[in-house]
Amino acid sequence: MAKKKKNGVLVFLLILLIFLVVGMFAFMMRTADHSAFEPIPIEPPTEPVTEPASVFDKNDPNLVLVNKESVVDESYEPEELVYIDESMRAADRAPQYQRMQPEAAAAFEALVNGAAEDGLTIKVTTAYRPYSYQADLYNYYLAVKGEEWTKQYSAPPGTSEHQTGLAADVSCPSINYELDVSFGETAEGAWLEQHAHEYGYILRYQEGMEAVTGYSYEPWHIRYVGTEAAEVITEKGITLEEFLGDI
Ligand code: DAL
Ligand code: ZN
Repeated sequence: MAKKKKNGVLVFLLILLIFLVVGMFAFMMRTADHSAFEPIPIEPPTEPVTEPASVFDKNDPNLVLVNKESVVDESYEPEELVYIDESMRAADRAPQYQRMQPEAAAAFEALVNGAAEDGLTIKVTTAYRPYSYQADLYNYYLAVKGEEWTKQYSAPPGTSEHQTGLAADVSCPSINYELDVSFGETAEGAWLEQHAHEYGYILRYQEGMEAVTGYSYEPWHIRYVGTEAAEVITEKGITLEEFLGDI
């Protein structure tokens, strides 16, 4: 009888032990850090970060860079040159230097018509200048105005963008179609600064940019680059040199 009682106690203790072990295990599982077993979320693949391609092409002929460092060959002549409408040419200049490449000439005529709609008169003095004429002009200025002035305002032959047929010098009646810094203060000069880009032109030699362009402020010298480039250059207030360095 005593042995039976003892066995009963043992069974009871064993059951108690089992409960204790199972209880402890359950408690430990509940409080344990399960993060090690959590699945690692798989990130969706991200797009590779690349710069958007420039819409501009450095080899676009309308974006050709001509300056003191980037020269044009003596023999270079544009494939085609057309006369700017006679009504838009200052009368006392040689007509053969009042030609441009066709696209630039058409854009120039649109620009002059745009100014006329606002009651203003803009005419071209000279546009395309062959190497030989640029040489004559440069030597004339050297003799008459001296070296310092000439280096600031006139390009040695082979370094003038007039040779490309994409540049034009313009003026207005109130200053007798002279090429003078005062052109910038005329209504036509102010209009050009505001609207030239709408026709694909930029004011090439801006005030304060001599160190970049190599020339002093020339409010009369406009250069055709196409409307998209002209808009970016004008909006950013940069030179053609800086624009070409960015694309
Ligand atoms: N006046 C500009 C710099 C030229 O001669 O081309
Ligand atoms: Zn010029």
